[in-house]
Amino acid sequence: MSKKYYVTTPIYYPSGKFHIGTAYTTVLADTMKRYKKLRGYDTYMLTGTDEHGQKIQKIAQEKDMKPQEYVDKEAEDAKKLWDFMDIQYDDFIRTTEPRHQDIAQKIFDKLMEQGDIYKGEYEGWYCIPCESYFTKTQLVDGKCPDCGRDVKLMKEESYFFNMKKYVPRLLKYYEEHPDFIKPDYRKHEMINNFIKPGLEDLCVSRTSFDWGIPVLKDPKHIIYVWLDALVNYITALGYMTEKDELFKKYWPADLQIVGKDIARFHLIYWPIFLMALDLPLPKQILVHNWYMMKDGKMSKSKGNVIYPELLVNRYGLDATRYFLLRELPTSTDGVFSPEGFVERYNVDLSNDLGNLLNRTIAMCNKYFGGQVPKYNGHKNDVDEEIETFAKEVTTKFEQKIDNLEIANSLQEIWNLVSRTNKYIDETEPWVLAKGKDKEKLEACIYHLIENLRRIAILINPFMTATSEKMFKQLGIEKEELKTWESLENYNEIEDTKVIEKGEPLFMRLNSEEEIEYIKKEMKK
Ligand code: MSP
Repeated sequence: MSKKYYVTTPIYYPSGKFHIGTAYTTVLADTMKRYKKLRGYDTYMLTGTDEHGQKIQKIAQEKDMKPQEYVDKEAEDAKKLWDFMDIQYDDFIRTTEPRHQDIAQKIFDKLMEQGDIYKGEYEGWYCIPCESYFTKTQLVDGKCPDCGRDVKLMKEESYFFNMKKYVPRLLKYYEEHPDFIKPDYRKHEMINNFIKPGLEDLCVSRTSFDWGIPVLKDPKHIIYVWLDALVNYITALGYMTEKDELFKKYWPADLQIVGKDIARFHLIYWPIFLMALDLPLPKQILVHNWYMMKDGKMSKSKGNVIYPELLVNRYGLDATRYFLLRELPTSTDGVFSPEGFVERYNVDLSNDLGNLLNRTIAMCNKYFGGQVPKYNGHKNDVDEEIETFAKEVTTKFEQKIDNLEIANSLQEIWNLVSRTNKYIDETEPWVLAKGKDKEKLEACIYHLIENLRRIAILINPFMTATSEKMFKQLGIEKEELKTWESLENYNEIEDTKVIEKGEPLFMRLNSEEEIEYIKKEMKK
């Protein structure tokens, strides 16, 4: 039986249209799923929406809608977006679905029965109009940090989760599982910023609003939205139900992807909840950085929000996916700029990759009537070097992507693109064509076609349509030549004819016009 791979995205708040930041997390999960599939894994990807809480209730009210009516519409829009972006999710969980609510209640009940959740009193500074509690240090000049009005010291009966009890176990777990958190520095942030200063027990119920899941045995209390949300990763698989085949098969998750703002919930609370439920922890949690704009965070009021639809409609899905995955470093935030987008499109995609394919196809047609020459070993001075280089790229790519350095893994593929372009300059096929040494020309064209085949395989999880277009233009039809395993060999292409005239993969853009276009659309 093949190995399994379960990957999750956070479940998103349905609080408006999703921008490229949200799309990033989902595209990344989808890419990892496709990569693992290529490697022969039995994959499962979960995404969904986090539909409870005061914030959602408020937005619905402002729109004069019932919360359920509002989230139903938003969840549909989310699914439409993911379909539009060709996201291959296997399940979409909504926290208002009975399959989730029932189990979230059961989980709360179990934790209460076993004494991990206890009743206490929550004390804090309460802002009545905002319906929110703040700690003293969060107040600004003694007033509400959100609206600036007076706050009142209030007490409320609440349930608490005994976090303190689990801290030593969590620290031990971190220590014994050095690959649990990626990148590593996020673990130190958790320890230094939250655990060392003393982790408080967590208030896991609210009575100040009702848009949420009631505690089974004390329904005036609503389960804290983060406890409700986090358990989606197991309720979606049928945990604690009779139909728990998926849970048995896929839990623990192999990779959970989260943005830096929600790292604390996933790296501290979530593992502790799982320990309390006596369940294995996810094998790995990846914390990614954020996409920022030149002038800071994306926000509607600044008119600097980029929605994925804008990019996909005008530049195509693959260019959008390429940019998102290429431009966000592992260790710092990434910047989205119209200039940066257009440059990556023109340089990396249209010029480096697109032209390489085009030139190769044109030469194969011109010199060999489209018939790809057979592998005949190393005839040019640089043939051996490029073959070794191509094979090494596969190894380096694998190391980077397995280490979840996504942008770097794409860089490895583009190293092969550049090296192959350089190979054309080095071998000068147009000069070889004039001479008598046909073998050298055959070797040259073979190496070019073979490297393009390798590139098409490697980019497949990132840009599936482009990869397929490349195979088609190269005349690679046999499925065995499209597999990961086929990267082992370098001499397998035989009886192949490239197409007569290659279509450009990415039409070159007029930079100024496109930069203007994106800027104008952002302001709309
Ligand atoms: N509902 C919670 C998650 C619960 S998971 C059990 C939530 N939702 S969210 O919609 O606000 O955010 C979802 C994800 O989008 C987070 O991982 C967040 O980091 C990510 N991003 C939001 N803005 C982003 C950028 N500008 N750039 C990259 N990712 C960003 O939090």
